[in-house]
Amino acid sequence: MRAVVFSEYGDESVLAFTDRPVPSPAEGEILVEVLAAGVNPVDWKHREGAVRSDRPFPLGMGWDVAGVVRRTVPGGPAVGESVYGMLPLPYGGAYQQFAALPASAVAPMPARLSHAEAAAVPLAALTAWQALEAAGVTAGHRVLVHAGAGGVGHFAVQFARHRGAHVTATASARNLDFLRGLGVDEPVDRGTADLTAAEPFDMVLDTVGGEVQRASWHLLRPGGTLVTLPEPVDEAHRLPGIDARRVIVAPDGEALRRIGALVDDGTVRVEVQSVLPLHAAAEAHRLSKEGRVRGKLVLSL
Ligand SMILES: NC(=O)c1ccc[n+]([C@@H]2O[C@H](COP(=O)([O-])OP(=O)(O)OC[C@H]3O[C@@H](n4cnc5c(N)ncnc54)[C@H](OP(=O)(O)O)[C@@H]3O)[C@@H](O)[C@H]2O)c1
Repeated sequence: MRAVVFSEYGDESVLAFTDRPVPSPAEGEILVEVLAAGVNPVDWKHREGAVRSDRPFPLGMGWDVAGVVRRTVPGGPAVGESVYGMLPLPYGGAYQQFAALPASAVAPMPARLSHAEAAAVPLAALTAWQALEAAGVTAGHRVLVHAGAGGVGHFAVQFARHRGAHVTATASARNLDFLRGLGVDEPVDRGTADLTAAEPFDMVLDTVGGEVQRASWHLLRPGGTLVTLPEPVDEAHRLPGIDARRVIVAPDGEALRRIGALVDDGTVRVEVQSVLPLHAAAEAHRLSKEGRVRGKLVLSL
């Protein structure tokens, strides 16, 4: 099968196209013919060596797949069914013609979505879902989502709205209308806004790290929750009375079923900035690392 692999950590040039054997599903795993693979920042972080696995090179790339089931297990999806899902971290293997992943990690593809759109969903949407769950976001809560126009952010703002929260989100000026279109109550220009004047939040989702995480502590009400994604909680800046935790996304086919229902009933929109062919994987990584993608990038096989 065609596959993108890498045999050393480094820049985009380490990505190579190769012929690889079709993976053999382990117990409980299904085999999916991949028609589209989502691109996430963790992909290039893995390629650079910031996220490592204990398997030997060459390593597979990517975690998000949408495609057609070719082998299944008892109780799993039907052969021929279109599914979407996320491979378990830290072993990538989505930028390739076939992927083996646990049956419990996939769900039927939302009927409204193409394979390319479906591949944009799993890792980013599950991260947003699990972050809101960790913070117990509920109706009436005030939620601040940093980078609301990004992969995780654009799902987080929509899930938070669906839970009945009042949503503020940051983005650059060119994305403020996009945020409004997603239902954000208060889109905020990250270049000029002074959030310290805002009414305190029940939850802040830090999708950026560094200075954004440091500033976030002071935007929360006592008892509020800071959820960090890119970096661990910086203990040196911890404030008493704030619950702070890092969420690491985990595959969850059941949550994907529920997310798929929200997509199909029109509650949640999936934004795909571009679909690139598999051979443009290096270009996709370059774009992702620039940090300006609206919604998601997807590779089509
Ligand atoms: N812990 C986990 O399990 C987990 C899971 C998923 C993601 N992550 C991490 O979370 C981060 C976000 O992931 P993602 O997929 O959402 O990334 P992404 O889609 O690449 O984010 C791109 C967006 O970030 C915005 N942005 C860039 N710099 C910003 C800043 N300083 N302040 C506010 N917004 C900024 C850009 O919007 P504008 O151009 O409008 O500013 C752009 O739309 C990444 O570091 C990723 O590795 C962690």
